[in-house]
Amino acid sequence: MSYEYILTEVPAPGVGLVRLNRPQALNALNNALMKELHDALSAFEADDGIACMIVTGSERAFAAGADIKEMLDTPYIDMFMRPTVTANFDFSRYKKPLIAAVSGFALGGGCELAMACDMIVASETAVFGQPEINLGILPGGGGTQRLTRAVGKALAMEIMLTDRRLTAQEAAQYGLVNKVVAVESYMDEAIKIGQKIASLSRVAVRLTKDAIQRAFETTLQEGLQAEQHLFYMAFATEDKQEGMTAFAEKRKPTWKHK
Ligand code: HXC
Repeated sequence: MSYEYILTEVPAPGVGLVRLNRPQALNALNNALMKELHDALSAFEADDGIACMIVTGSERAFAAGADIKEMLDTPYIDMFMRPTVTANFDFSRYKKPLIAAVSGFALGGGCELAMACDMIVASETAVFGQPEINLGILPGGGGTQRLTRAVGKALAMEIMLTDRRLTAQEAAQYGLVNKVVAVESYMDEAIKIGQKIASLSRVAVRLTKDAIQRAFETTLQEGLQAEQHLFYMAFATEDKQEGMTAFAEKRKPTWKHK
């Protein structure tokens, strides 16, 4: 499929990469780009050859937010009836792990897009922020919820009420990102994590991601129960048998993804 605002590639076996490609607008997220992003992720999700997905932008900008110029003339009724950009940060439909590889600006919807992924690898030039308050609006792609859970209430309030921006190092210190690496190597680092995930049992990866997600959506008791059921489910898989047999036989497992 050919796209206008994104590029796709498979940089390593099992790893699907979507690159936002709207450089003249610092990858501002317009409705068309968000639709293409989801089309591309859905295609990777349906592709048996892909185990893990990466979303990235350019070195200068992961994404500078939702497209302000597009939103400028969007009336309430259109946001309500066609909430394309704002409603599109629910990535729960993707069962395969998603890594955001972030360099440069990750502002507003850009920060929210990164946080909607499962992990964030940041270049040391990355800047995270939610500057919506300057536009007379508030974050609408999950920012008030995901950022608050990631960094805690006090800092989240400061970021969203005063447009405090976080450097990559600060984002790592507060637990928002997994790691910070040199700008020359952040893509390689994200791909390396993707390859590691692609080398594992897809069924175990899926069960694990599912269990971790429950931690954000349920009480502890319900989450623990869900984990138990998913854990028992793993005992019905061929990969559990293979993984444990390979350990006992001191060899590498050959996954069947079943
Ligand atoms: C539309 C944008 C844009 C955006 C940048 N551009 N951000 N266009 N929407 N969010 C455009 C600029 O208009 C400009 O176009 C070009 O990209 C380069 O940007 P400059 O401002 O010239 O670059 P620079 O001086 O380096 O400043 C970079 C910047 C600044 C600090 C990132 O562009 C900025 O403050 N952008 C807006 C950030 C923001 O407020 N994001 C939140 C948006 S609201 P021209 O044509 O002039 O060259 C949001 C709501 C989320 O995200 C809701 C849920 C999704």
